[in-house]
Amino acid sequence: MAVLNGALFLLLCAAALAAASAGDGPLLNGNFELQPSRCRMNGTRVMSAHAIPHWTVTGFVEYIETGAKQGDMILVVPEGMHAVRLGTESSIQQELSVTQGSYYSITFSAARTCAQNEKLTVSIVPGDPRGELPVQTVYTTSGWDSYAWAFQAAQGVVSFVIHHGDDQVDDPECGPIIDAVAIKTLDPPQATGDNLLKNGDFEEGPYITPGSPWGVLVPPMDEDDVSPLPGWMVMSYSKVVKYIDSEHFSVPQGSRAVELVAGLEAALVQEVDTVPGSSCRLEFSVGDAADRCAASPMSVQVATAGAKKSVPYSSAGTGGNARDALDFTAQDSRTRVVFYSEGYHMTSDGTGTLCGPVIDDVSLDCVPQTNARRLLR
Ligand SMILES: *[C@@H]1O[C@H](CO)[C@@H](O)[C@H](O)[C@H]1NC(C)=O
Repeated sequence: MAVLNGALFLLLCAAALAAASAGDGPLLNGNFELQPSRCRMNGTRVMSAHAIPHWTVTGFVEYIETGAKQGDMILVVPEGMHAVRLGTESSIQQELSVTQGSYYSITFSAARTCAQNEKLTVSIVPGDPRGELPVQTVYTTSGWDSYAWAFQAAQGVVSFVIHHGDDQVDDPECGPIIDAVAIKTLDPPQATGDNLLKNGDFEEGPYITPGSPWGVLVPPMDEDDVSPLPGWMVMSYSKVVKYIDSEHFSVPQGSRAVELVAGLEAALVQEVDTVPGSSCRLEFSVGDAADRCAASPMSVQVATAGAKKSVPYSSAGTGGNARDALDFTAQDSRTRVVFYSEGYHMTSDGTGTLCGPVIDDVSLDCVPQTNARRLLR
């Protein structure tokens, strides 16, 4: 009987270690609803690397149930009943079966607990440089935020790792709670005939968990990083932009847009090929997400080399948008298009949730100077 049990155990473990095939949606046990067996736990602490089905853990990892107490704080998880908490110098990882060379974005939810600044490092092994995600500022009423990160698969089987380092707090049990880990294959969009910008409508982007009401934060990246928002870069020291969906927010067109929630500290940037001297028109929608972000005006700064403009938009916080444009002459063979919010805004519900103007439907059209003269008659 003991032999049989041992064989069964090995069989189950082998099944748990097989790589998840990456389709769009949650990773295997990405919501942590499949529970570790009690014999591989001590209280909430996970005592064995493979205790949580489909995951491998290292360091001090806790398996959290919604409603559990931490001091006088009651923990609530964003999806289902369970989540994990990463203590100091701990990690969770899962093997993914992917297509070599393809691009993927990972979305997961995180909440900070004790420390003001908790930092998570996400990486793909083998592969890309790692990304550091600051889990620091309150972006939502609930304390939970979803974050996106992207990578290009260097081979067919890779490991996705979320690591929590040392936040310089004394308590090793301190650390962010993680839930709802999902993946999406990114389809790198191409510039089309009448728009030099790629993904100007933001329809291509990271996975948004159905029913998750707070959008997805896209953290800053380096120029050669893979962006979860294809075509676009988020340039900042540590702040984010928010990717929003029409199910939960007002979106100017289509089903996705970007809300500039970090004021002057995060810019949405795209660099395009241009013919120097050509006459260009950048058109875009500025609006509000209907998330009670009221301000008049709420201003967006739009800039390219040699031209910039402040676009005021009067927001009642109930949704709406306006079209605007910036005309400029291309100075170089590469032109950067930059958007950022000129102010810092919070929703009017007193929760301290950061918000800001929404950008959507950005297009850039350039014509050579001779044609431009003809157009001007
Ligand atoms: C479980 O945790 C408690 C409290 O930290 C500790 O005293 C005990 O030795 C642990 N038990 C095992 C089996 O590790």
